[in-house]
Amino acid sequence: MNEAETSSAIVCAECGAPGSEGQASCPRCGGLFEIRHRLPEIEPAALRERFAERRTGRGPLATSGVWRYRELVAPALPREAIVTQGEGNTFLYESEALGRWAGLDGPVWLKHEGHNPTGSFKDRGMTVGVSRARELGAAAVACASTGNTSSSLASYAARADMKALVFVPAGKVSAGKLAQTIALGARVLEVEGSFDTAMRLVLAATERLPIYLLNSVNPWRIEGQKTIVFELLEQLDWQPPDAIALPAGNLGNTSAFGKALDEAVRLGLIDRLPRLLPVQAAGAAPFHRLVASDAERLEPEPRPETVATAIRIGEPRSWRKARRAVERTAGRTTAVSDEQILEAKAAIDAAGIGCEPASAASLAGVRALVRSGELAPDARVVCVLTGHLLKDPDAITRYHCGPEPGPHANPPVRLPAEPEAVAAWLAKELG
Ligand code: F0G
Repeated sequence: MNEAETSSAIVCAECGAPGSEGQASCPRCGGLFEIRHRLPEIEPAALRERFAERRTGRGPLATSGVWRYRELVAPALPREAIVTQGEGNTFLYESEALGRWAGLDGPVWLKHEGHNPTGSFKDRGMTVGVSRARELGAAAVACASTGNTSSSLASYAARADMKALVFVPAGKVSAGKLAQTIALGARVLEVEGSFDTAMRLVLAATERLPIYLLNSVNPWRIEGQKTIVFELLEQLDWQPPDAIALPAGNLGNTSAFGKALDEAVRLGLIDRLPRLLPVQAAGAAPFHRLVASDAERLEPEPRPETVATAIRIGEPRSWRKARRAVERTAGRTTAVSDEQILEAKAAIDAAGIGCEPASAASLAGVRALVRSGELAPDARVVCVLTGHLLKDPDAITRYHCGPEPGPHANPPVRLPAEPEAVAAWLAKELG
């Protein structure tokens, strides 16, 4: 048994039964597994200082926004197994204008995970998942995806010389993401059906064949994604915000945020829990319905539909972990329409920040919760933007240049190539 197996246990998050690599869920109760580390015994101030020092240190392991928190991520993973591209270290915007747009009294903060190497937050989980796959000697890795996980997997697998196999819903992945996944060398299977069908197929395939599964049911992915929270807390000088809003699909990220906050409190890094606010698209909102109705089990949405294709998911796998995260943090779920998502996206884009449609659900959700009185206008809120603007150019073109343009459309202008025509137009533009 190697060191990693002795100091980081794989345990069912529901019944506590021990698990092992290669099991997607607990054979006893069907729950998902989680990693339990022995957390470092160190004063919080010393731990904070260690993280801060690494950021200005040398070498990719010190400076990566995932691996500089390695004590809390994968403490025993051998360094030579690590596949990193300097992920994380993403910018935390502070915007008065978007805070006002959302109905808050003050600014809103936006943690832009689209600034990762492949343009989404998935890189934080993937550096850990692929590193663990390398440590285990895996030759092939696989996932089902709405396009971002697949792009990230393709990149990290290629860096590690592994074969990447991805299952995507046919015709429902944005052109940018599909192009990125293919270009980075993954083999793509387009599945007739939704993400949920693709997920079922990849689970069946990885059960039968020696392929390492890298969806967020893999608990190592969750460990990497926790660093979004560690890093944003650090950027706020470890003064926790009142709430953190994030788009929610398969609910891996919501689960990761819950685990990160839990550990941050246990380590004394923060002294209170921000409320978690997972936001779903109204056409793909089974988790919101579960929480709002206080039902016992998640009722899948058989026909998920939304313009935010990243979160077009009807049967989220991590709903139990995510529900616990919402409950422990006294959080709230919400669902927003495609129109609300596109309006929030137009506002974020016009503020010079930009994001893909699913990411804007976070800000749209905050606005909805302030309006409904579930979130106080004086709250300090961080919205997580999960993917880059260029991930979905078609959505932008439709909104700004389509036959039914959105209320803040900004279509380009075409003029005759004549100085007078240009001068007249410029004079009008400049008022
Ligand atoms: N935002 C973006 C941009 C995403 O790509 C995803 C998930 C989410 C939010 C939701 O995160 O699933 O952890 O609740 N994308 C997955 C994929 C499903 O395949 O790329 P979640």
